[in-house]
Amino acid sequence: MQWYDLVRGLHILAVIAWMAGIMYLPRLFAYHADAVPGSEMDKTFQTMELKLYRIIMGPAMIVAFLLGLTLIWLDGSARLGWGFLLKPWMITKLIGVVFMIGWHHFLGAARKRFVAGTNTRSARFWKMTNELPFLAAIVMVIAVTTEFGS
Ligand code: HEM
Repeated sequence: MQWYDLVRGLHILAVIAWMAGIMYLPRLFAYHADAVPGSEMDKTFQTMELKLYRIIMGPAMIVAFLLGLTLIWLDGSARLGWGFLLKPWMITKLIGVVFMIGWHHFLGAARKRFVAGTNTRSARFWKMTNELPFLAAIVMVIAVTTEFGS
């Protein structure tokens, strides 16, 4: 299963890039929330956020997703059999995937509100919710590494 191991390594690398962005973008929002709309500071944050979202997070999410689908196909057809999709660890992982993709788009919508000058969420909100994707990542990684319930 050399292909499997290569795809798994590339999947983990794409996930690292995606997670880096998902955790850094709300940090930028936390500082951005205190900038005066239309100010130099506001425009600088907008540029940083756009580049992070479009150049890092978007492509990393797509690559992580496509490689994840490839792993599902390799697992189902050659390694574990399709029953693995219903194992508790894989269901947990898939719930995490849905949350992470949802969170990604939630951040994308928030970025657009900053551009429109209509952000209403405080720096405190962004600092407090920042840990959620990391908690989800812990659950997802432990689910796939332990394969609990299989
Ligand atoms: C984007 C959609 C994703 C899909 C479809 C997906 C799917 C998969 C699949 C099928 C495996 C192989 C599981 C196995 O048989 O051992 C895997 C491995 C892995 N995934 Fe994902 N994944 C996704 C996103 C993520 C995310 C967001 C994280 C972390 C936050 C993550 C972390 C990992 C890790 C660490 C492994 C390697 C586990 C091991 O080999 O022990 N994945 N993924």
